[in-house]
Amino acid sequence: MSAEFPVARPRRLRRNAPLRRMVAGTRLHPAELILPMFVKEGIAEPAPVGSMPGVVQHTRESLRKAAHDAAEAGVGGVILFGIPAVKDGRGSGADDPEGIVQLALNDLRSEVGDALVVMSDTCLDEYTDHGHCGILTETGEVDNDLTLERYAAAAVAQARAGSQVIAPSGMMDGQVGAIRAALDADGHAEIPILGYSVKYASAFYGPFRDAAECAPQFGDRSAYQQDPAGPVGEALREVRLDLAEGADAVMVKPALAYLDILRQVRDLVDVPVAAYQVSGEYAMVEAAAANGWIDRDRVIMESLIAIRRAGADLILTYWATEVARRLG
Ligand code: PBG
Repeated sequence: MSAEFPVARPRRLRRNAPLRRMVAGTRLHPAELILPMFVKEGIAEPAPVGSMPGVVQHTRESLRKAAHDAAEAGVGGVILFGIPAVKDGRGSGADDPEGIVQLALNDLRSEVGDALVVMSDTCLDEYTDHGHCGILTETGEVDNDLTLERYAAAAVAQARAGSQVIAPSGMMDGQVGAIRAALDADGHAEIPILGYSVKYASAFYGPFRDAAECAPQFGDRSAYQQDPAGPVGEALREVRLDLAEGADAVMVKPALAYLDILRQVRDLVDVPVAAYQVSGEYAMVEAAAANGWIDRDRVIMESLIAIRRAGADLILTYWATEVARRLG
């Protein structure tokens, strides 16, 4: 062995594109991508979301078209958020059979239900006039157990409307168990629950609150969502609890700032793990790219690869259709 030249030459496997392609350990597939979509009641045209260039609040009609495009690109699923015309203290739109999300779920099931998975986010914040994820007490706190009853009703309404996966995102204790029991009792034992198990009180949700018109009118979500500086064990505990309550898959959210947590969750569980590349992650890339500061397409792929490598089996991303096309 010569001391003069290195024996190990990792560069041998990076020399050209076919070699790099063959040895790449992390791959993305369109079926693993889930597209979050917004549908708004009472608008005649899709309404662009200012802080999320390229994302719109859909009409029922434009939603069908966009879901069709996603299916055609091979996207694995869509997850629906509804914005009702009228909001109230109990979030009545969440479980109204004629509510916008229920009507749109029905549309999507018939339009694309055989080609991809039609999922629904189950929460109250898009439907309450105060913007919090649950029912408030007189002192303005979110009442955990009263809220569970509302989540259960919303989940049942979504299941009846055709949702194929229920995804509770409100971070109430016991939400998966309450929803599982309600779904079973209403004859939906076959419908899986994707728990937003690990969800941080994140500033990266800012643009979403424009898209879903759900910014809290007072206070913030720190009393129910997790503290970004909180103990790592808390995240794992949330996951264990959700599994014990019957979650079929779990989620970590946001994605890029919590890849360490994502890896630990992946190593802990034997169910599919999803990661949500949230609105702020999307907006930052779009804004920097619009300024010509970064290579948009490469940054998108690199961020998704990082999320995949950290352990995500499924990735929720607003770029799902575009990326699926690129992969296709
Ligand atoms: C709550 C919910 C939120 C997001 C998904 N579900 C907002 C929040 O918790 O404040 C955020 C998604 C994103 O930022 O892209 N229903």
